[in-house]
Amino acid sequence: MCGIVGYIGKRDVAPLLLEGLQRLEYRGYDSAGIALHASGKAGGLKAAKAKGRVRELEARLPKRFNGTAGIAHTRWATHGAPNDVNAHPHLDAQEKVAVVHNGIIDNAAELRDKLTAEGFVLVSDTDTEVLAHLVARSEAATLEEKVREAVRHVEGTYGIAVLHADFPDRIVVARNGSPVVLGIGEKEMFVSSDVAALVSHTRQVVTLDDGEMATLKADDYRTYTTEGSSTSARPTTVEWEAESYDMGGHDTYMHKEIHEQAEAVDRALRGRIDDRFSTVHLGGLNLDAREARAVRRVKILGCGTSYHAGMIGAQMIEELARIPADAEPASEFRYRNPVVDPDTLYIAVSQSGETYDVLAAVQELKRKGARVLGLVNVVGSAIARETDGGIYVHAGPEVCVVSTKCFTNMVVAFGLFALHLGRTRDLSVADGKRIIEGLRRLPAQIEEILANEAQIEKLAAEYADAKSMMFIGRVRGYPVAREASLKLKEVSYIHAEAYPASELKHGPLALIEPAMPTVAIVPDDDLLEKNRAALEEIKARSGRILAVAHQEQEKADHTIVVPKNEDELDPILMGIPLQLLAYYTAKAMGRDIDKPRNLAKSVTVE
Ligand code: F6R
Repeated sequence: MCGIVGYIGKRDVAPLLLEGLQRLEYRGYDSAGIALHASGKAGGLKAAKAKGRVRELEARLPKRFNGTAGIAHTRWATHGAPNDVNAHPHLDAQEKVAVVHNGIIDNAAELRDKLTAEGFVLVSDTDTEVLAHLVARSEAATLEEKVREAVRHVEGTYGIAVLHADFPDRIVVARNGSPVVLGIGEKEMFVSSDVAALVSHTRQVVTLDDGEMATLKADDYRTYTTEGSSTSARPTTVEWEAESYDMGGHDTYMHKEIHEQAEAVDRALRGRIDDRFSTVHLGGLNLDAREARAVRRVKILGCGTSYHAGMIGAQMIEELARIPADAEPASEFRYRNPVVDPDTLYIAVSQSGETYDVLAAVQELKRKGARVLGLVNVVGSAIARETDGGIYVHAGPEVCVVSTKCFTNMVVAFGLFALHLGRTRDLSVADGKRIIEGLRRLPAQIEEILANEAQIEKLAAEYADAKSMMFIGRVRGYPVAREASLKLKEVSYIHAEAYPASELKHGPLALIEPAMPTVAIVPDDDLLEKNRAALEEIKARSGRILAVAHQEQEKADHTIVVPKNEDELDPILMGIPLQLLAYYTAKAMGRDIDKPRNLAKSVTVE
């Protein structure tokens, strides 16, 4: 949510920053801007901003917008409407200081009043602008001290990059709660909110901690705390090649990422299965068998799609380990003063590892002495670092705002964890073996589902006229229905509701009519007949039905048949055709699939 990028070196900075912004656009896309130290005799700072996408900014860059040091930003509006004035970078009145910011300044109103009373004129409605004025008014001798002094006034979260006309040889950056990653090049340095903007230039990165700052010069960088003491630099190598962030011949990242799922699941399983004991090894878990046996309850916390993955994970844990487990939106959990129980194991699930509500829930739990594990995709992200251990889901970079492959890999990771917990308790060797074999079948079965893409494309055309759709499932199928309904609405903007099939007759059946099609999840498990009864009820009200099932469903108008796995693992596969359904529906409607309106990946604000 909001992306920052910066460069200092010898190359012409504007094209580099535009390229970086394009890579970060999924973090926010309602406005963008660049500030740079202008080359030439006059020097000084120059800035350009535009409402809309990065391409609009590019079209609006002034002639002779050259320099070798600059910062840029792509915005997802929190304070103030998306327009040119509210776009970052923000500059002070003398245009000496330029700031880009990701995060929220909680005491912005107070700081605005204070600055206004001192005679500063604030031109935007943003929280960020105060930072530019705070840096500009500082009388400290160095840019580092000026920035340090400014952030001392600020309450809230920030990842910032600052330019100052009097210090053209450096960019100063600071982090508190919003990611800042330095990219270390050969006589050039980069900074970004995300490695996605760095990997085509360097894979050597340094991830700043909260309370840390850095000074970037063309041939050098140093890191230190906001209190001024030096910290040791810890460069690491990014795991992914630059190509992993490209579209690779697909028309959208969503399509690419749906098609990467077999490979991603294979990666999540690799090196983790122990056939000798029909169990799994999860290296980073930090939970030995005695501790695992002592767990009395599991609580899973996540948001959106990750919460849905958590719902399936909770069912897997109950089924395979016989431990009571449930999932709750982290955003709700943190505000209801929950009872924190020492025998409960908490699991925070997040693709980005940055989602503010999940991070805040983790911090609250830690304050109360709870044990919290992370189930996270982005290695080294804030949630991965704040938790006591965990499982990386290894889905690879997910660029589309709408999550697909990460959801699937999260559920697979929960399957591995449930198996692990189960095998420390009462799950038999034979059942362990059964689940392992099921997990191993997944990649080939995913390929089988994806090979059916043409049928799903046709079905999407058939249902794209719906104004509203109902998604139903029972027990294992219910979270699948929820996730499929979320996918459809966020990418196609068709209204969709998800309900447990068992609840239909308690109210929502009133909605059923030919104009309101139902997507039903109908696995071949012990609830098959119950699910069929729900289809009968819908058909009796002239409802159109699209079933996702293991065999053709007589009452359905159409059935997408998916391969059967073990009952406990079926939810992993049943949602995949519905990702394609959402994709093709959105495509038929001409939607901006990778960047749905009003959304951004990595929701780093409340
Ligand atoms: C929907 C989607 C969101 C995210 C949610 C949490 O397709 O991607 O619902 O799942 O914003 O994000 P993470 O998983 O990064 O914590």
